[in-house]
Amino acid sequence: MTRHIRPGRTQAARRGGRQGAEWPVRGAHGAHDAPVLRAVGLSRLYGRDETLVRAVDEVDLDVPEGQTLAVTGPSGCGKSTLLQLLGGLDRPSSGEVWLGGQRVDRLAERALARLRRRAIGFVFQDFHLMDELTAAENIELPALLAGASPRTARVRTAALLERTGLADRARRLPSELSGGQRQRVAIARALVNEPLVVLADEPTGNLDSAATHDVLRLFDELRAAGQTLVVVTHDERVAATADRVVSLRDGALADDTRLGAGGGTSRLGALLDWEN
Ligand SMILES: Nc1ncnc2c1ncn2[C@@H]1O[C@H](COP(=O)(O)OP(=O)(O)OP(=O)(O)O)[C@@H](O)[C@H]1O
Ligand SMILES: [Mg+2]
Repeated sequence: MTRHIRPGRTQAARRGGRQGAEWPVRGAHGAHDAPVLRAVGLSRLYGRDETLVRAVDEVDLDVPEGQTLAVTGPSGCGKSTLLQLLGGLDRPSSGEVWLGGQRVDRLAERALARLRRRAIGFVFQDFHLMDELTAAENIELPALLAGASPRTARVRTAALLERTGLADRARRLPSELSGGQRQRVAIARALVNEPLVVLADEPTGNLDSAATHDVLRLFDELRAAGQTLVVVTHDERVAATADRVVSLRDGALADDTRLGAGGGTSRLGALLDWEN
């Protein structure tokens, strides 16, 4: 496996329209190679004494803007816990989380909720869609909650439905969609507020191989567009499409590998060639 560090890509160009957005703003953290997401001495302990579990143990991690990072490791090694700490869904026992150059682990609950809505897109294994809302409404909702006008929310949703190949499924309920289509709705929803970072926990864990390819194709497109992406996965095929793979053992970083750029072709393309 080739190992080299690719220069960070910038999202500044395609983000020109984000004026008026509230903090945190892309690029607000200075140089383009500054990490968009950073963990410093991050730990999350559960229980105490003989029941103490170090779910995340002194993790230092910098994710530069535009990087696709896969987090792997055996069941119970702390992947989901780490992702939840990075996304402000859980609070660390000690250590720091920085997003867009701003320390976020000590924010008050309301500020943290606002931050999650505006700056982070979550994708989960079991989709977490609202059953009673259509595909389009599921995508629109977080935009409306973040303060977008109904018109803006509609326009962004239409573009995302198109981008995820779901334009003809806009009015379907989740129960009327396949697993792969549901996950594409969830990815579109994660993107609707143009997040600084997309965090995905086993996004292909419930999908068959065709649907997994659809999701990987989308991730590949996000990568090409410079979206910062952190994906927790057991699936080597998913990890192989990342720029960088870190593995966890007992809550601690055990390995950190930069994957090669693949000679100009997309990594997914190379992967599909390899499968054939
Ligand atoms: N709420 C909790 N209370 C106590 N222990 C917990 C809690 N949540 C997680 N843990 C423990 O923390 C450790 C890490 O769990 P985590 O869910 O992060 O692992 P994971 O790597 O995501 O596993 P998997 O691949 O099975 O999803 C495990 O030992 C787990 O039992
Ligand atoms: Mg997990």
